[in-house]
Amino acid sequence: MSFPYQIHSFEEYLSEYKKSIDQPENFWSGIAEHFTWKKKWDKVLEWNFKEPRVRWFQGAKMNITENCLDRHLADKGDHPAIIWESNDPKEKNRILSFKELHEEVCRFVQVLKNNSVKKGDRICIYMPMVPEAAIAVLACARMGAIHSVVFGGYSAQSIADRINDAQCSLVITADGGHRGSKDILLKDTIDEALQNTGHVKKVIVLKRLGNEISMKEGRDIWWHDEIKKVDAQGIKDRTAESMDAEDILFILYTSGSTGKPKGVVHTNAGYMIFTTYSFVNVFQYQPGQVYFCTADIGWITGHSYTVYGPLCAGATTVMFEGIPSWPDAGRFWDIVDKYKVNILYTAPTAIRSLMGYGLEPLKNKDLSSLKVLGTVGEPINEEAWHWYDEHVGKHKCPIVDTWWQTETAGIMISNLAGISQGKPAFATLPLPGVRPVLVDENGHAVPGSDAAKDGVFHKGATGATVTGNLCIRFPWPSIIRTTYGDHERCRLNYFATYPDMYFTGDGAFRDAEGNYRITGRVDDVLNVSGHRIGTAEVENAINMHPDVVESAVVGYPHDIKGQGIYAFVILGSESKENNLDKSSVAATVTKIIGSIAKPDKIQFVTGLPKTRSGKIMRRILRKIAEGEMDKLGDISTLTDPAVVEEIKMGKI
Ligand code: WT7
Repeated sequence: MSFPYQIHSFEEYLSEYKKSIDQPENFWSGIAEHFTWKKKWDKVLEWNFKEPRVRWFQGAKMNITENCLDRHLADKGDHPAIIWESNDPKEKNRILSFKELHEEVCRFVQVLKNNSVKKGDRICIYMPMVPEAAIAVLACARMGAIHSVVFGGYSAQSIADRINDAQCSLVITADGGHRGSKDILLKDTIDEALQNTGHVKKVIVLKRLGNEISMKEGRDIWWHDEIKKVDAQGIKDRTAESMDAEDILFILYTSGSTGKPKGVVHTNAGYMIFTTYSFVNVFQYQPGQVYFCTADIGWITGHSYTVYGPLCAGATTVMFEGIPSWPDAGRFWDIVDKYKVNILYTAPTAIRSLMGYGLEPLKNKDLSSLKVLGTVGEPINEEAWHWYDEHVGKHKCPIVDTWWQTETAGIMISNLAGISQGKPAFATLPLPGVRPVLVDENGHAVPGSDAAKDGVFHKGATGATVTGNLCIRFPWPSIIRTTYGDHERCRLNYFATYPDMYFTGDGAFRDAEGNYRITGRVDDVLNVSGHRIGTAEVENAINMHPDVVESAVVGYPHDIKGQGIYAFVILGSESKENNLDKSSVAATVTKIIGSIAKPDKIQFVTGLPKTRSGKIMRRILRKIAEGEMDKLGDISTLTDPAVVEEIKMGKI
């Protein structure tokens, strides 16, 4: 399979970009022509950002798994679709060809149907990184059930909240999973979560660890038993459900600036086209290449660029169960060497942590198969960029720094490997179809910041560096459609700050050549190891501790994680006397949200800097956490300025 929409030169990028702006409907329908449809669309695009209402390829019927699987059967049925590498380097790998993956997905569709799952039902998936996680996701898509994957690091409470919000009727999980030297007891966590939910009728459990678990009669069933039943029945029907272009494909929860995560909704056709288009162009994927994205399926990167995008493009995607540092810090390089990986896509935080082990783990690893490197999740600092370039890419692999979000579902701003120039710490230029603009605090577009109007590169750009809040002016096919069950929340969050624009929540600047550099979130959302965590969410969790009166959470620069979590906590008088242990506060966060949100630093304080109206002045706390004590600015408007001195003295 070749890709008629693959861009081959910078000139072509410029002309495609221009076409995508001048004639967006023609541009995207021209690309959509190269996908498999059951019925083509009546209308390419209908939209307004006021409600918001965005509909791509209305009237079309399709199934994304026909594009991921069936379409490849004739010419590459025996090619590897998934190469799975266990956490344990000694455990045999598993390779599923497109034919085998197709068969497994069809079998699992029947398992779901045997358990009364219907089109439109919501299914919670809480699994380790094993091929069955991808099979479960694809089976849902194939029969039209809506998957809601929850990352294996989230707590019982977080799972229960997500199950309740989407009213999931079935959970797919495993007895447990391996992560480095640790075993993660997933089923125990699901059991606890289900004590707080009323919707779940069935739990399908994959045996992975072989540990002792409880199986609730009538509710819990084994994956392998269900498969045996299907094999006895024979697969009755391999046809993929006919989905409307705008039927929901999945919900994925992500943190925002309020305490409650939101269920980001993506639909079928637009998502398929944008993830595949961006995969092929950003990584310059060539047929036959082996591609390795290190992201867990629980995050959007795992959805779009471990499963859907690469499989739609017919790529071989490597799925890795483990972590970069186990059994030693050479694990990624072993995998690259073993499978002759051509494209490696990982997070800056992983690169920084591996840098800390020095060059020894890279010795005697043959990385010569690598052609393209990518990063995602947070700004990459120059030091990490150069290390990646020198020691992994050996100065011969372009590095793509890809900026995007759960809400965008696909890569929005990035250089295209070998086509457009990378620049350390810059995401660089927008993909065709993406129209970024920077906006000042009054909601005015900053002159010289609009890629479409001011030109995507230096010939057209105004020649000055400009800054502002990053917005997108026009819908792309995989834009968020709604937040599940609460459309108003979607509007308020993304479309109400600036009229007629999608607001990303990020700040950015644009250099004289038109390259965008993302400077980080401008809302109360932290980016810890490439994962989004709302400060309000962490505060809510801390406040659940019986001895805590109040708390305020801010981020601070962290060498490996990018941002660390700093919590200022006021205790009740009794616990102060009892010398409450900080670890018990941290344990509360792990219990309520999961270990990913555990504060790195906890400082007990007697008060918080507040304005007279009672608002916590986070700006001051942020400066203190960052160690910039002399840059606190005006503190005279605080009710109790003295508290600032005390907090400064106690800084950790
Ligand atoms: C936030 C989105 C995109 C999938 C993984 C994270 C930050 C993401 C970059 C980048 C600078 C980046 C932004 C964004 N971010 N990629 N290349 N350069 N910042 O998805 O959890 O939805 O987080 O991650 O702040 O808003 P997410």
